[in-house]
Amino acid sequence: MTDKKNDSSDLMDKLVAMCKRRGFIFQSSEIYGGIGGFWDYGPLGVELKRNIKSAWWEDVVRANDNIVGLDCSIIMNPKVWVASGHVGGFSDPMVDCKECKARFRTDKIAYVSVSKGENVLLEAAVEADDDNEAVAAAMAAANSKTRRRIENAGDELNTSVTFLSKIPEGETGSCPKCGGELTEPREFNLMFQTYVGALQDSSSTAYLRPETAQGIFANYKNVLDTSRMKLPFGIAQIGKSFRNEINPRNYTFRSREFEQMEIEFFCHPDEAEKWYVYWRDTRYQWYIDHGLQSDKLHLRDHDPDELAHYARGCADVEYAFPFGQSELEGIANRTDFDLKAHQEHSGRDMTYFEDELWKTEAEKYSADKFDGDKKAAKKAAEEAKSAMPYRFTPYVIEPSGGVDRATLAFLCEAYTEDEAPDENGQMQKRVVLKLHPRFAPIKIAVFPLVKKDGLPEIAHKIHAEAQTAGLASFYDEKGAVGRRYRRQDEVGTPFCVTVDGQTLEDQTVTVRDRDTLAQNRVPIDEVVNYVRQRIIK
Ligand code: GAP
Repeated sequence: MTDKKNDSSDLMDKLVAMCKRRGFIFQSSEIYGGIGGFWDYGPLGVELKRNIKSAWWEDVVRANDNIVGLDCSIIMNPKVWVASGHVGGFSDPMVDCKECKARFRTDKIAYVSVSKGENVLLEAAVEADDDNEAVAAAMAAANSKTRRRIENAGDELNTSVTFLSKIPEGETGSCPKCGGELTEPREFNLMFQTYVGALQDSSSTAYLRPETAQGIFANYKNVLDTSRMKLPFGIAQIGKSFRNEINPRNYTFRSREFEQMEIEFFCHPDEAEKWYVYWRDTRYQWYIDHGLQSDKLHLRDHDPDELAHYARGCADVEYAFPFGQSELEGIANRTDFDLKAHQEHSGRDMTYFEDELWKTEAEKYSADKFDGDKKAAKKAAEEAKSAMPYRFTPYVIEPSGGVDRATLAFLCEAYTEDEAPDENGQMQKRVVLKLHPRFAPIKIAVFPLVKKDGLPEIAHKIHAEAQTAGLASFYDEKGAVGRRYRRQDEVGTPFCVTVDGQTLEDQTVTVRDRDTLAQNRVPIDEVVNYVRQRIIK
């Protein structure tokens, strides 16, 4: 069996086509021509995405006594976004083309020049994230004669890439689409605005949340007061976020509406570094454990000059998508920046009091230690209480992942082309989605070999039993069994169960493994358990 994994340059095209054909992902409002940066998940896509979110929730919230969940509203008091810095600073610099009206991020327009000696062979303006992508885009846009001249020029080429954001003041760039003149750069806030209530003026302006994190910070005290959590503890949330991205692209990777799965983990400042390392490594391992085992997964620590002014450390879990290596999840030590900002803007106390620690110290402040002066004892106690180590603002470690990006990475990694024997033993090409069994939209497919001799009845019984046991099951009796296998391979079903002639003789069925293609005979009454044990790994 020869495996052809994600090395093909047209993987993205094949994956997008498969996702549409099999009902994983559709363009939003496709019947009206779609809308840029918005996507819909079809019947299989919604199962895949739910399974990823459930796995995260089980591993993060249910498996840890000191992590609780939250589900906040998408629209919050706009003061939240002033305090968080999003109203003032959540923007990208952008330019518009005066001719074709296209809009671009200033840091994404690159000017590529390729020359040999005095001869300029190629000059192009393109949209790209980095130098390599810019050169590739310029080459792709060049005509075949130019490409040949460059390919034949050997080592003597001089290639330069300059991003619009770096060109000297006074010089103007040109539009990558039509070559037209560009406007001066200006800041474009990425938050979607709306109005709450009947009035539509600045007093009723509100925002669709651009991250789930701020709902957690705004509820930090509520959770602390109601759930009796002690440091260190975390609050987790999965939910939709919205960003009016200037250039949504790369399928679902950069969308305008997307889902995040975020943890805000509150800890003592002295322990922040320890917890940062813990979460960085734990989250990286989670992706490996769920199938991103190839050398395409990377953990990248940010250089100090990349860090936000309040952050002490930040690392990205990155995946080498077919369109380039990009972030799946960021893990950051956000210090006490957010809680202090909300304390300042809301006037609410966001500090944490170490009451256990205080209990052991409290007797030092009894009246008899102050010659019976109760007032003096109380004053000294209050002063001691408000000082470190008893009262402080916790630090926050934030693992923040994108559900859609994770889904896309798992799809890219799983998409495989290989060969498998058909019912006549002839090798046939197949597309197989080698998803982790926990994520597979369908866990078990049940087929009667033929539609007679009581085989459908037995297959229906197994199908119903699997559903009762909580396994997503699919019943199929149409077409040759080889084709039925291939249909399930393409959507990642880990096990297919076939009821055949031998079943009537010895009460066993064939269980076929999607990845190894091994076929085992298993007694009918054990088959659901057999599959379940192999899925809950
Ligand atoms: N609270 C921190 C925060 O929101 P971020 O790096 O802006 O940090 C976290 O976003 C994660 O959310 C990213 O790693 C990515 O997976 C996902 N994400 C961000 N913007 C996205 C977009 N436009 N489309 C899809 N996912 C996005």
